Amino acid sequence: MGMTWFKALAVFGQELMTNPRPIGAACPSSPGLARRVARMVGKSPDHYVLEIGAGTGAITAALLRDCVPAHRLIAVERSPSMVQLLRQRFDGVRVVEADACELTAALSAIKGVDPRRITHIVSSLPLRSLLPEQVEKITREFCKLMAYGPQLVQYTYNLRQGSGEVLANFRRSVSSLVWLNLPPARVEVFCAAPAPALSQRSSPKPRRPSSATPFLLASGAKAVNASPRH
Ligand SMILES: C[S@@+](CC[C@H](N)C(=O)[O-])C[C@H]1O[C@@H](n2cnc3c(N)ncnc32)[C@H](O)[C@@H]1O
Repeated sequence: MGMTWFKALAVFGQELMTNPRPIGAACPSSPGLARRVARMVGKSPDHYVLEIGAGTGAITAALLRDCVPAHRLIAVERSPSMVQLLRQRFDGVRVVEADACELTAALSAIKGVDPRRITHIVSSLPLRSLLPEQVEKITREFCKLMAYGPQLVQYTYNLRQGSGEVLANFRRSVSSLVWLNLPPARVEVFCAAPAPALSQRSSPKPRRPSSATPFLLASGAKAVNASPRH
């Protein structure tokens, strides 16, 4: 554990110095933040969790401990040195070296993963420090995946506004502050927003799928409730 921790910190520091924009944080997430994110996901042993921006694995470790077995976790990371560390640390986890701007293409290259079986997307992406065009591409990719039903767990250091403005296409269902992190963070859960009613008159009762909407799985599998435990 000690050696891994030092190595993770060294890789994180190196990335932060050479490429600060996509890192967007002074240090890896604290155990408290990782636990809170995992709690939002809950136990999901039969389904897939997709982690984006896995970094040195602070949140990956909590997801493995509390939510999914290794073969149900897919970790996406753009930095080759972080990818190498993740592969060393987490046996059995599918670690994909890819840019979140091309998320769906990267996922379709992985054998045996049906995107309809992903119940949660856990994102550590620093949406406020990435370039606007990147954020636009990433949210478009999230939109494509979230049409299948998964929830998006995203944290931000913007305690007052959260990520709601950046993730305006989605509906926020949960928001929770974590003080024991550097800096303190807000963890939020989003789901696909309901389609706007065509006209107020013709749709007297607009449909609002709740966060507890059952998630449809591949044929033959049971439907599960993908709502967060909180
Ligand atoms: C704030 S760090 C979080 C790292 C780790 N999950 C943690 O909580 O300590 C953000 C991570 O997102 C990764 N990242 C940033 N932009 C990305 C992109 N476009 N595609 C994939 N990963 C990206 C960075 O390399 C970095 O590892």
